Amino acid sequence: MGLFTKKPIHKLILDSSDGDKGLKRTLTAGNLIAMGIGAIIGAGLFVRTAAAAANNAGPSVTMAFAVAAIGCAFAGLCYAEFASMIPIAGSAYTYSYATMGELVAWIIGWDLVLEYAVGAATVGIAWSEYLNKLLGLFHIRVPYQWCHSPFEVCKDKTGLFADQLGVHGIMNVPALFIIFMLTMLLIRGTRESAFVNGIIVISKVAIVILFIVLGWSYMNPANHIPYIPAATKYIDGEGVSHNFGGIWGILGAAGVVFFAFIGFDAVSTAAQEAKNPKKDMPIGILGSLVICTILYILFAHVLTGIASVNDFRTAGKEGSVVYAIQTYMHGYGWLANFVTVAILFGFSSVILVMLMGQSRVFYSMSRDGLVPKTFSNLHPKFKTPHHSNWIFLILVGGFAAFVPGDIVGDMTSIGTLFAFMLVCAGVWILRVTNPEIQRQFKVPFVQFVSIAGIVVCGAMIAGLGWTNWARLGGWLVIGLVIYFTYSRKHSKLNNEKNE
Ligand code: ALA
Repeated sequence: MGLFTKKPIHKLILDSSDGDKGLKRTLTAGNLIAMGIGAIIGAGLFVRTAAAAANNAGPSVTMAFAVAAIGCAFAGLCYAEFASMIPIAGSAYTYSYATMGELVAWIIGWDLVLEYAVGAATVGIAWSEYLNKLLGLFHIRVPYQWCHSPFEVCKDKTGLFADQLGVHGIMNVPALFIIFMLTMLLIRGTRESAFVNGIIVISKVAIVILFIVLGWSYMNPANHIPYIPAATKYIDGEGVSHNFGGIWGILGAAGVVFFAFIGFDAVSTAAQEAKNPKKDMPIGILGSLVICTILYILFAHVLTGIASVNDFRTAGKEGSVVYAIQTYMHGYGWLANFVTVAILFGFSSVILVMLMGQSRVFYSMSRDGLVPKTFSNLHPKFKTPHHSNWIFLILVGGFAAFVPGDIVGDMTSIGTLFAFMLVCAGVWILRVTNPEIQRQFKVPFVQFVSIAGIVVCGAMIAGLGWTNWARLGGWLVIGLVIYFTYSRKHSKLNNEKNE
C-alpha cells in the first residue's frame, strides 16, 4: 500500500514548527525578493537573449520574454498559493505530497534535482566561460582542456582558443571551483548567504538598469525594423535549422529565454526560513517575477536596438552584450568591463540560490524518510544541512566539470517545466479536496490558471524535442528504481500507517 498516501496538511504544518531542531527563521520579504532576483537574473538574460534574437525572433525577442513570463506567471501564482498555505522547505515536492500522494511527490522531488542541481551546474559552466572573458582583459586565459568537458573539442577558428583547434576538453576546473566556493558559503549559514546574495543582487540589477538607461540613446531605429521579422528558416554556424521570424520565431525564442525565468520558484524552498511566510512568500515569488519581467523586456529592447541581428550571429555570439557596448556605445568601455564582472557575480548568486533550493528539497524528503537521514542532518552551529551540501557538491561539481553546457541547460529547462505542470495541477486538486484550509493568498480563476499553466508549460516541453524527453524519461526511471528499492520501505508516513 501507500503509493498514493497523502501527507495530511496538519502534519506538514506541525513538521514546520519544529522549534530549535529545525531551520532558523531569518528571512524577510525583502530578503525573499532578493533571493528570487538572485536566482532569476543570470545566464538566461546575459547570454540567451542575443541567441534567441539571432536564431529565432530578432527584435521581437521582447515578445518572447512576454510569452515566457506569462507561462511562468501561471505557475508563479500557483506556487504563491501553495507557499502561503504550506510554508515548509521543500517547495513543489511538499505540495505534491499533500495533494497527489507519495509516488508523485517522489517523482517531483527527484525531478527538482534537474532544476536545482543540474541548473546550478549549467550556470557554473557559463561562469567558467565568462571568467575567461574577464581574464582576457589581462591577456591571460584558462587553457581549453581545463575549462571544457571531455565531450567537447575545440572548434574555435577565430576567438580566444584559435591556437588550440582540435584540442579535447578534460575537465571544467573553474566551474568546479565556483561551485565549491558557494557550497562553503551555504554551509556557513542562510543569513550570511542571504547577505552576500543581497549585495550581488544590487550590483546585478544596477548593471541591467545602467545598460537600459545609458544604452537607450544609442539605439538605432533601423535595427528594430521590422520588429517581427517575416517567417523564414535560419541555419546557424553549426548547421542547425531554426524557425526565424513570425509567430513560430517568437515561440521558439520563448523556449530559449524561458531559462532566464527559472529560479523564482526557488523562493518557495526557503519557506521554512521566512519570518512571516504566509504573507511574505507570495510577495517574494510574484514580486521577483514581476520586477525581472519588466527589466528583461526593456533590456532586450535596448540590446536589439543597439546591435543588429547580424552582429549577434557573427561577432557577438554569447558575448553580445559586451560586444554591443564596445562597438556602438563609444566612451563606455568601462561599462563593458563592469558588465563582465557583474555577470560573473550575477551567475554566482544564481548558483547559490539553486544549491540552497536543492539542499532544502532533500532536507524535506529526508525528514519524510524518502532519502537517507544524512540529508537533514543540520550543522550544530550554523544550522544548515551541511552533509547535504557536501553530497551535492560532488554531484553538481561532477556535472559542471564533465558534462557540456548545452546538455545540462536543456535538462534544467525540461525538469523545471515538468515541476511547474505538477504544481499547477496540485493547486486545483487541493482546492477541491481541502477547501477548508486557510489560504493567505488565493489564485484568481483557479481552474483557468491551472489549465493554462499546464498547457503553456506542456507546449514548451513539446518544443524541447525528443532527445530531451528521453533524458527526462531516463532520469525519472532511475528515480523510480530508487523509490521502489529504498524510499518506499523507509517512508515515515507508510511505516506509521502500517503500524
Ligand atoms: N534564471 C537563471 C539564469 O538565467 C537560471 O541564469
